[in-house]
Amino acid sequence: MPSTRRSLLTAFLTLPLIDVTRMKAFAQAAPDLVLTLACDDGDEPTLEREAGPFFRPNSPLERDLYPHAPGGERITVAGFVFDSRCRPLPGSLIEIWQADENGDYDSVGFRLRGHQFADAQGRWWFNTIVPALYPGRTRHFHFKVQRLGGRVLTTQLYFPGEARNAGDRLFHEALLLDIKQTRDGKFGRFDFVV
Ligand SMILES: [Fe+2]
Repeated sequence: MPSTRRSLLTAFLTLPLIDVTRMKAFAQAAPDLVLTLACDDGDEPTLEREAGPFFRPNSPLERDLYPHAPGGERITVAGFVFDSRCRPLPGSLIEIWQADENGDYDSVGFRLRGHQFADAQGRWWFNTIVPALYPGRTRHFHFKVQRLGGRVLTTQLYFPGEARNAGDRLFHEALLLDIKQTRDGKFGRFDFVV
């Protein structure tokens, strides 16, 4: 993993998480992170969005998906899974599926599909590529998120500044990734509330 993205991911992974409600103050004290930590007691659950026609069950346990598409633009997407009281939810299932660098989904195998379980502090991350646009949609990732013993949240995450966002009936600004451009790729942040 190139150095800039590694340092961002390392910073993300070394956040002090003992008192999550104080993370905003921590981020302000660590300007390199410039994290948007919109986590408050009483947060609304993450909006749901339809799975669409391309979901396939039984994806592999895998968070490094970029080798599946070496021609794509690298991005690390990362965040927490919280409950509505800002408490991290370790062990939550996070599953991703996405279009490739040409706007195609793999409907035969599991290219650019994978799942993982949030770590002991409720964090997840995928190293993948930026999905290309395909007809009728703005740029997006698909996700399923399930806390231990909970119901499955199915949703989609979007990219800021996309021309097609405004015309996509599924787009919602509450589902925007917080994207940073590094020297060697993008870093996108989103926290799920389930
Ligand atoms: Fe899609």
